[in-house]
Amino acid sequence: MRIDVLTLFPEVMQPYVTASILGRAQAVGAVEIHTHQLRDYTRDPHRKVDDRPFGGGPGMVLSCQPVCDAVEAIEAMDNRKALRVLFTPQGPRFTQATAGRFASCERLFFICGHYEGYDERIIDLLQPEEVSLGDFIMTGGEIAALAVIDSVVRLLPGALGNAEATDNESFQNGRLEYPQYTRPREFRGRSVPDVLLNGNHADIEAWRRSQSEQRTQQRRPDLLDQNNYAAQRIA
Ligand SMILES: C[S@@+](CC[C@H](N)C(=O)[O-])C[C@H]1O[C@@H](n2cnc3c(N)ncnc32)[C@H](O)[C@@H]1O
Repeated sequence: MRIDVLTLFPEVMQPYVTASILGRAQAVGAVEIHTHQLRDYTRDPHRKVDDRPFGGGPGMVLSCQPVCDAVEAIEAMDNRKALRVLFTPQGPRFTQATAGRFASCERLFFICGHYEGYDERIIDLLQPEEVSLGDFIMTGGEIAALAVIDSVVRLLPGALGNAEATDNESFQNGRLEYPQYTRPREFRGRSVPDVLLNGNHADIEAWRRSQSEQRTQQRRPDLLDQNNYAAQRIA
């Protein structure tokens, strides 16, 4: 997979995408991540990429020319067709299901906004998929891009070691993961559940399944509703 990120702050993104699992995923060839400075694509002599909003109001709006020219020029750097993704608090919320869908793409192109957002014609012309990280406002799209890249790349074959499988994780099957324990067996009077110590894999599996159901019911019943709704639609 190839990931391109268009941003005003590539230097903010570089340390994260070269560290830990993202760094290792790039080293083993599971993904290549390229960050691009939006200002490199402006035709403005002062490297401006934004302007005041028509109709008045506070803040600045990202202009059409640098963003549209950058997307076209960067896309031409590789033959693979990119899914364009634009970060905005106004888009549908990013979920694990979105991460799974993105992980099956051969190329992703992330566009990070800043200031008050984008000239609306950027969205009309580029027709990106709009994605929000949640119902809150950040200063720019960089943290959203890093969160999405991280969750997508760990799903790619070869990105994680065998010890770090994604199958049973929260949201993967519409459930929250069961509780986990490690040594010591007792800490400050609290013991690890006996079932995890008896070596009976069928019992452990059954306990984990039931814990996972209970947790989801208690903490995120909306996940169960969503799954029932999806199952009804398929039936
Ligand atoms: C200050 S925000 C602009 C908010 C915009 N004026 C509005 O009210 O919808 C600047 C940029 O940060 C990014 N951003 C902020 N919050 C976000 C969120 N919850 N999800 C994804 N991107 C976000 C987007 O790229 C956005 O264009």
